[in-house]
Amino acid sequence: MSALTDKDIRALKPKDHHYRVALGEGLFLWVSSSGNKSWQYRYHVHLGDTRKEKIYTIGDYQQINLAQAKSIHTTLRQDVMKGIDIQARKIEQKNKIAAQEDNDRSADDAVIAPISNRRKFLTNVTSVMGGIGGLFALVPFLSSMSPSERAKSAGAPIEIDVSSLKPGSYKVVEWRGKPVWVVRRTKEMIDQTLDVDDLLRDPKSLEEHQPSYTQNKYRSINPEYLVLLGVCTHLGCSPLYKPNPKSEELGLDWTGGFFCPCHGSKFDLSGRVHKGVPAPYNLEVPPYYFATETRIIVGEDGENV
Ligand code: FES
Repeated sequence: MSALTDKDIRALKPKDHHYRVALGEGLFLWVSSSGNKSWQYRYHVHLGDTRKEKIYTIGDYQQINLAQAKSIHTTLRQDVMKGIDIQARKIEQKNKIAAQEDNDRSADDAVIAPISNRRKFLTNVTSVMGGIGGLFALVPFLSSMSPSERAKSAGAPIEIDVSSLKPGSYKVVEWRGKPVWVVRRTKEMIDQTLDVDDLLRDPKSLEEHQPSYTQNKYRSINPEYLVLLGVCTHLGCSPLYKPNPKSEELGLDWTGGFFCPCHGSKFDLSGRVHKGVPAPYNLEVPPYYFATETRIIVGEDGENV
């Protein structure tokens, strides 16, 4: 594999025509003439006696860094060797997302982002997930966003209104191209986070991505509201919200939390990672603060620090 670093990649400049930078074993970075960078995987399949070249787009460099691209590429190679049609799988996943999104749209009577924007966001997430295995973690529901919120989601702080969020439920909004979850925990859910420290890798949230004001058992400013980035710290799938303990699917020792079906990582109801799973860290808590009791600003620390 090439010794290219993220710093080298950031320094790559556009040219008159698009070009590719090979990283080895079929992994490429594609740089367009306008400067967009995306990851591609070139591989071959055998159709009878014919050997055919195929290109699989992994996703944008803005959303997938070098280490993640290498991991995804490794899994894709293994899948191709197993005879899995990775292109067909990706199309199937996109179709599922489109169907899910259309369902959400019809059930949603508030202001909804233009479908092309929402689909693009979901599709980008899927591009990551599509490379990581046959299982599929669907981003469950993108909350409605006002036009100004959508504009801000490129980087500036966003405001999330949780006044209509029912206890036990959650909403998802986009911030910096990533899903942000806000979970309104019930008293039972809060209590559930008290007894699971033995299961956890970093129960006190001392490692990465932990704003100081969330270094407590609840990983939140107000225990009732949990704010997390919905991105698995293993390879970037979006874990599923599984709040009910003793689940048939996850076993009698399941204590409720989040489950990433891509490679089986588990997180408790505060987003703290279990021991012995692929994900190395707790789910990331973005900077945030409460502007009022029911309005959360994500993207800034406010005066919580
Ligand atoms: S991406 Fe591998 S477990 Fe979540």
